Amino acid sequence: RWMSAFLVVVVVLVHFPAKFTVIGPRDPVTAVLGQEAVLPCHLWFRAEFASFVHLYHDGKDQYDGQMPEYQGRTELLEAVLTDGNVPLRILNVRRSDEGLYICFVQDDTFYEETVLELRVAGLGSAPLISVESHQDGGIRVVCRSAGWYPEPEVLWRDLSGRHLPSVSETKSQGDNGLFETETALIVKKHSNRNLSCCIRNTFLNQEKESAVYISLNTSLALPVMIGPGHPIIATAGEDIVLPCHLSPRMSAENMEVRWFRYQFSSVVHMYQHGKELNVLQMSEYQGRTEFLRDSIGDGNVSLRIHNIRPSDEGQYVCFFQSSSFYGEAVLELKVAGLGSNPLMTVDGYQEGGIRVMCQSSGWYPEPEVLWRSLSGQHLPSFSESKSRGESGLFETQTSIIITENSNQNISCLIRNTHFNHEKESTIFISG
Ligand SMILES: *[C@@H]1O[C@H](CO)[C@@H](O)[C@H](O)[C@H]1NC(C)=O
Ligand SMILES: *[C@@H]1O[C@H](CO)[C@@H](O)[C@H](O)[C@H]1NC(C)=O
Ligand SMILES: *[C@@H]1O[C@H](CO)[C@@H](O)[C@H](O)[C@H]1NC(C)=O
Ligand SMILES: *[C@@H]1O[C@H](CO)[C@@H](O)[C@H](O)[C@H]1NC(C)=O
Repeated sequence: RWMSAFLVVVVVLVHFPAKFTVIGPRDPVTAVLGQEAVLPCHLWFRAEFASFVHLYHDGKDQYDGQMPEYQGRTELLEAVLTDGNVPLRILNVRRSDEGLYICFVQDDTFYEETVLELRVAGLGSAPLISVESHQDGGIRVVCRSAGWYPEPEVLWRDLSGRHLPSVSETKSQGDNGLFETETALIVKKHSNRNLSCCIRNTFLNQEKESAVYISLNTSLALPVMIGPGHPIIATAGEDIVLPCHLSPRMSAENMEVRWFRYQFSSVVHMYQHGKELNVLQMSEYQGRTEFLRDSIGDGNVSLRIHNIRPSDEGQYVCFFQSSSFYGEAVLELKVAGLGSNPLMTVDGYQEGGIRVMCQSSGWYPEPEVLWRSLSGQHLPSFSESKSRGESGLFETQTSIIITENSNQNISCLIRNTHFNHEKESTIFISG
């Protein structure tokens, strides 16, 4: 006969035979990142007993106390609850889900637990092959792919499946814990020119492959300058790097690199023949620019600007020129002034009430200013002024009159609508 069993930690109220055993599979379960995993046990939950992955109790899923990283991602396959088998589905599997899970089942008289291991695997992107430069009398072909876990195997091969030696191979682990790979091969006149790059997850026993045919007539694209492709946002008073690099990667050491603004002659920073030239630099940038030369050998010609001002906002052109070609990228800099906390002062009596003043500075662009009650109701101001200081940042001053009948808990809110940033101060005027 079946009896009720309360599962503690992973508590489940479910019918089990009087003597029941919790059974988990012996082999680890493998899940693919971003997809779902089913833990095929009679009732499960993870690691330390203090927190649980999923809890089913009293005929219901219970979410109070669930580990936050599993919220919205677990479900019991309830269809099978009645026969004592309680598989758990985990959606959108992450790297951090890897590890041991404990299935804990308890009734009035005894309990059982068992342990299951979940392993996670990432099947990365299809390899991207690019023809990059001339090297050692041949053409350097590079293959890149990301999103692998664990570390994948990488190999080049020809059409008949023969393994071709690479000249370089790097694998690195990104912040998300997944591996990226980059491998290069030199194709020469007599070498096989039908190639494929294959990346293999040995754990899943799956691979991704891209094939390419390299004609020795393949003309290498002329280098171009690449900017960030989106506006750069800088905070007033801080430093910012304007990124820019050559593609394909090649040294810019012997080129002219010019950062300019409105026209070719409005120079922000200039580099030529291995030296930096300050004579043409606009006065407002003097002493504030730093050309980041460390990776110039790699075509990186990024520029750091110190102590950003509102007047730095606008377009920048990153230009390069060598003996045989030139090019440029345009990028946009936006400046945000995230001002000070509003300072409130009780300023004296006026029109039968008390005047409260609110001041703040350091805003850019011009902020919105408003008074409101604690319940969020907008209150009319008595006066309001905004001005621009020498630095180009806005200062605001606003006041309100509080009377005996008006709301006495009020706050002053200053908001930079461009950058969705606000600061608020509250004051309470007692009777
Ligand atoms: C390589 O691929 C090209 C284009 O697909 C094909 O025409 C050629 O016959 C192939 N060469 C060899 C040696 O398989
Ligand atoms: C490659 O270039 C040579 C000389 O320019 C030409 O004779 C040949 O036909 C080209 N081959 C291909 C496959 O385009
Ligand atoms: C270029 O150099 C800058 C400064 O060192 C760095 O922040 C940036 O990531 C580099 N960009 C590339 C594409 O390597
Ligand atoms: C105003 O704030 C004070 C202090 O937080 C609180 O004691 C009081 O009840 C509030 N008054 C109103 C009208 O909300």
